Parts: sequence; C-alpha cells; structure tokens
Amino acid sequence: MSGILQVPAMQGFIRMCMDGWYQGWHERNGGNLTYRMTEEDVNQCRPFFHALGSWVQMDVQAENLAGEYFITTGSGKYFRNVEPDPSHSLGIVEINGEGNAWRIVWGLEDGGKPTSEFPSHFMNHSVRKEATNGANRVIYHCHATNVITLTYILSLTDRDFSRALWQSATECPVVFPEGVGVCPWMVPGGVDIARATSEKMKTYQAAIWAQHGLFVSGSDFDTAFGLAHTIEKSAEIYWKVLASGQPIRQTITDDALRAIAKDFGVDLNKEFLE
Ligand code: 13P
Ligand code: ZN
Repeated sequence: MSGILQVPAMQGFIRMCMDGWYQGWHERNGGNLTYRMTEEDVNQCRPFFHALGSWVQMDVQAENLAGEYFITTGSGKYFRNVEPDPSHSLGIVEINGEGNAWRIVWGLEDGGKPTSEFPSHFMNHSVRKEATNGANRVIYHCHATNVITLTYILSLTDRDFSRALWQSATECPVVFPEGVGVCPWMVPGGVDIARATSEKMKTYQAAIWAQHGLFVSGSDFDTAFGLAHTIEKSAEIYWKVLASGQPIRQTITDDALRAIAKDFGVDLNKEFLE
C-alpha cells in the first residue's frame, strides 16, 4: 500500500461517508460512522500508525471488544469534509485490554476526538458482534430526514414503526424482518442513549431515535448503508401518503407480508402481525 488511503477498508469507509452526505443525511457535523476492523485491515494500516496517544477511559465497557481497532468519524467533524480531508475528519482508535478505553493510533489530527456517539457505537458493536457471531462490523448513525419526520406522527413503539415501514415498501419485510426498534427522545452522546439503543439492537438491526435520526448496523458498508437507505425511503413514502390527505384505500396486508416472508425465506417478527 502506498498510503493508508489506499487500504480498501479506508476507501469503503470514506465512500460511505460521502454517500450519506450526498443523500442529505449529514448537515453540519450530523451523524457518525464506525467500522470494526479485521486483522487484515489493521495489518494493512499499521505501517501508517503514528506515536500512540494516551488511553481515554469510557463510561461503557465491552469485554468482547477488547483489543479491537475501529475507524471512526471525529466529533464535530463534517461528513462533507471526509473525502477532501480524511486525516482531520477520521481516525483509527485501538481499544484496551479491558474493553473500556480507547487511544488514537492514526488520524484525528490536531486534537480531534472520536464521535461523541462513540459510547453508543461501542455498545452497539458489542451487542451486534454477539448477535451475529462476529459478522457485524459497521454501525452508522445518520439524520435521515424522513425517518425523523415520522417520529412526530407515529406513536413511538417498535410495533407501529415496524408495521408502517413494512407496509410502505415491499422489500422492507425482507430487509429487516425482525422490525425496527424505537427509542424516545434522549440527550445525545451519553451513556443513557447508548444503553437504550443497545437494548434495542439485541433484537433489531436498526433503531430510530425520536426527533433525531437513525442507527443501523451491518456486516459491511453496503449492508449497513442499504439498510439505512431502505428504511429512509419507506419512511418517505409513508409520510407522503399521509401528507397527501387522501384516505388510504389499500396497503400491504398482513397476509401479504406473511406471503413475502414465506417466499423469501425470512422469519417475520410475528409480534407485529395481526
Ligand atoms: P458528532 O459530531 O460528535 O459525531 O455528533 C453528531 C451527532 O449526530 C450526534 O448525535
Ligand atoms: Zn445525531
């Protein structure tokens, strides 16, 4: 590798940031992305690591993330600037042996820090790593406009959101058959929102933060971005239908949802069906 920006994991990370920016989900410093690196990713990046920073303690702990490395967006950094200025906008952090502290090994130059939502990302990585036998690597938070819009209209239950999203786009029950979790409005960036979200992520691949945005997980950048995109598009269709002021004459019925699940071989969350 001629430089760290040629490492495929870095390229995938940067591409996803720019994809989110062009979708309009990252006004100012809105949103954040983290990726749990493979051993191969770390080996490819290691020649470019700089003098190790000091350990910074977190208020959260996860033993199953001890010794892991993450690529992370920086706190207060703009997704818009990720491609033109990656070494200030992004960083790589190493997690200590107890799984409760990080230190910067590359990037976040001139005093940058990992995203303020790092506690949420970290706990969600822990939960999703466990839930997927290690397959999950990406956690992504975006300020998806149409998802946020729905949090003003629907009651904030997993059931109501899951049903509305499933019924608004045919691929939804296939992409997230377990449904989505919904967290009430909470102060961003702290341990409480991290714990509430990670509780939801034990069951779901995605959680919605009322009046704030969307949190998704995935085994790779394509899967995580695709999940966010699918949920956001379905949310857009649903509120546009409501905003049209027309009565809803038909939707995807529960029997139709069951039929999709059967044909596509997915296990639809029966608690949300009538
Ligand atoms: P950061 O700039 O710290 O990542 O915060 C942005 C955000 O979306 C908080 O929820
Ligand atoms: Zn946010």
